Amino acid sequence: MPPKLTINYIVAENAAALAARAAQHFVEIAEQAVAARGRARIAISGGSTPKATFQLLGDPAQPWRARMPWNRLEIFWVDERCVPPDHPDSNYRMTREAMLDCVPLGPEQIHRMEGELDPEEGAARYESGLRNLFRLEGAEVPVLDLIQLGMGPDGHTASLFPHSAALDELGRLAVANHVQNKDAWRITLTWPVINHARSVFFLVGGAAKAEIVHEVFLGVHDPERLPSQLIRPASGILTLILDRAAAALLPATDAEGRGKIERTE
Ligand code: 6PG
Repeated sequence: MPPKLTINYIVAENAAALAARAAQHFVEIAEQAVAARGRARIAISGGSTPKATFQLLGDPAQPWRARMPWNRLEIFWVDERCVPPDHPDSNYRMTREAMLDCVPLGPEQIHRMEGELDPEEGAARYESGLRNLFRLEGAEVPVLDLIQLGMGPDGHTASLFPHSAALDELGRLAVANHVQNKDAWRITLTWPVINHARSVFFLVGGAAKAEIVHEVFLGVHDPERLPSQLIRPASGILTLILDRAAAALLPATDAEGRGKIERTE
C-alpha cells in the first residue's frame, strides 16, 4: 500500500452538474490516454448514479459525444449482477440503453461481464479475457487507463461488499462474490486490479451518501467494514466527483469546488 494517499475531490452543485462534470472527466482522461498510448481502456460501474453521465456521453446534442475518441476506446466493467444481459438489473443493459446504443463502438470494443453464466465461470472467463487482451503473463495485472467507481450506503464499491470473501482476494483479477444481504451473486474486479489503474475516480451523488463518504475518507481505517477504503491507487492519487449533497460532511472546497484530503494509513 502506498504510504500516502492524496484524495482530490471535485464538488458539483447538483445531480445534473455532477453528471456533466463526470462526462467531462471521462472525455479528458480518454483524450490523455489516446494521446499517450493510442487508445483508452476504461472500466465502468453500474448502479444508478452513472446513468445520467452515460446519457450525456451518448447525446449528440451535448459537447462530450463529439470529443470522446470512440474509435480508440475499449469499455470494460468493474462488476456485474449475475443476471442475463437484458435483465432490468443488468449493469450492461443500463449502459447499453443509456449510451452504447447511441455511440460508434464496435462489439470488439465492448467487454461485458457474462452475468448470465454460473458466477464462477463468468468470473473465470472475464479473467482469461483480460489476460488475453492485456497479454498478461504470470502474476501480471492489467493496467486500465481509467476506472469509475460508485459507493453504496454500506461503503461497498464495485461488488466488494463488507465482510465478503472477495475482499481477501489478492491473486485473481475477477471473482464471483456472494452478497449476503441480497442473497445474490456478483462478478467483480478485485481491488488489486482497481488499484493498478492509471486513474481511478469515485462518482457519488445524493444526501444519502454524505455519512458514508465522510466515514470512508475521513473515518477510521477499517476496510473489512468499509471496502471503499481498499481503493488506494498505486499512483497515490484518488479522485472523487461528488455533488454538494454527497460532499456535505467533507471539508469546504475552494472557489472552484475543489478540495484535498491526505491519508497516511
Ligand atoms: C453495482 C455497482 C455498485 C454501485 C453502488 C452505488 O453494480 O451496483 O457497481 O458498486 O456503484 O452500489 O450504486 P448507486 O449508484 O445506485 O447508488
